[in-house]
Amino acid sequence: MTTLVVRGIGRLCTCDPARDDPPGVLEKAALVVRDGFIAFAGGERELAGADLPDDAETLDVAGAAVIPGFVDSHTHLIWLGDRSDEYARRAAGESYESIAESGGGIRATVAATAAGDIDTLVAAAFPRARRMLRLGTTTVEVKSGYGVFPDAELRQLDAANALGAAGHVPDVVTTYLPLHSAPPGDRNAYVDEVVATGVREAATRAYFTDVHCEQGAFTVEECERVLVAARAHGMGMKVHADQLSRCGGARLAARLGAVSADHLEMAGDTDLLALAGAGVVATLLPGASLVLGGPPPPGRRALDCGCVVAIATDCNPGTSYSESMPLMCSLAVAEAGLTPAEALVAATAGGAAALGLDDRGVLRRGARADFLVLDSDRWIDVAYHLGGNVVARVFKGGRDVLG
Ligand code: NIG
Ligand code: FE
Repeated sequence: MTTLVVRGIGRLCTCDPARDDPPGVLEKAALVVRDGFIAFAGGERELAGADLPDDAETLDVAGAAVIPGFVDSHTHLIWLGDRSDEYARRAAGESYESIAESGGGIRATVAATAAGDIDTLVAAAFPRARRMLRLGTTTVEVKSGYGVFPDAELRQLDAANALGAAGHVPDVVTTYLPLHSAPPGDRNAYVDEVVATGVREAATRAYFTDVHCEQGAFTVEECERVLVAARAHGMGMKVHADQLSRCGGARLAARLGAVSADHLEMAGDTDLLALAGAGVVATLLPGASLVLGGPPPPGRRALDCGCVVAIATDCNPGTSYSESMPLMCSLAVAEAGLTPAEALVAATAGGAAALGLDDRGVLRRGARADFLVLDSDRWIDVAYHLGGNVVARVFKGGRDVLG
């Protein structure tokens, strides 16, 4: 048994959705961590009577704010190649869609990534995952989707799992994204193959299957076939939904009982009400909407419709090259109408909900001891400090992982 006592916490943000005062702040607080899990989260005074072992380690954070580690629930972290030229082309006025039609976009990354072996894929992703950890992300979802060819998709998943096992990175939760960009050749045969064999082979490597439901990507019918097959193999479902057009992705997610519907810029209130009714987490990706110059994600509307909301980076080389959850919190406040408190909960407990995890994203007894000590006594600085890094120390499973 190892015990760590964290005292002197000026403000402890529990981010516990069971409380109705987001972000659930406790003042003058302490945490007790036993074997990687939180044994106590409460007022420092209550610690006096606690039965602490003699060899307990103590950390006094001198009034700093402590928050849960961020849970980044939507990323495309593993890719090879470089699309900075597209960033410049878009800045000069070309659209994302026209660049994709001319051979750029997701296809360009597929061309660069599909032949990569596992070691090469992991080596490319490792520095991104390290940056995430330094910015306070303790759990990250990683999708395939730049493999497209069946073997390459599975290699991307193997690389994501190898990355998670590498140490000194966030915990990795893997998602199979077979319907991202249509492959060359017979697309019907491709979808048939994903349904017949892809999901079965992916089910031993990934927790979720995701689909890109969009004009120019895949139809509602194609997405539904793949998700239903994935569900039959015990996988959870996710949908890239209603990003550039209102094409039915959110309604599909609600109908099938997906764990999350992501993007949602073009979703209407009836779509968001359907998500809320079905318990599907609405995931906002404000980096992608900022870079693409489109409408902001419907954060306020989703909350008002009763959705559980998550915020994620969508880290990818085309539309959101960012590892920063604090920046996403700032953008969710500035663009999507969330309060700073709502943004913090969406980036922690919301992200965990979008991954079907109830053991993290909150600081309460029994949860994993994934927490951040800020270099500030104010939790609001996470969103208020634009583009800065206010994370001083990162603890994952009770261990100081940057120290
Ligand atoms: O989530 N929308 C589709 N997929 C990514 C973009 C990937 C890319 O452009 O490479 C997204 O934004
Ligand atoms: Fe995405």
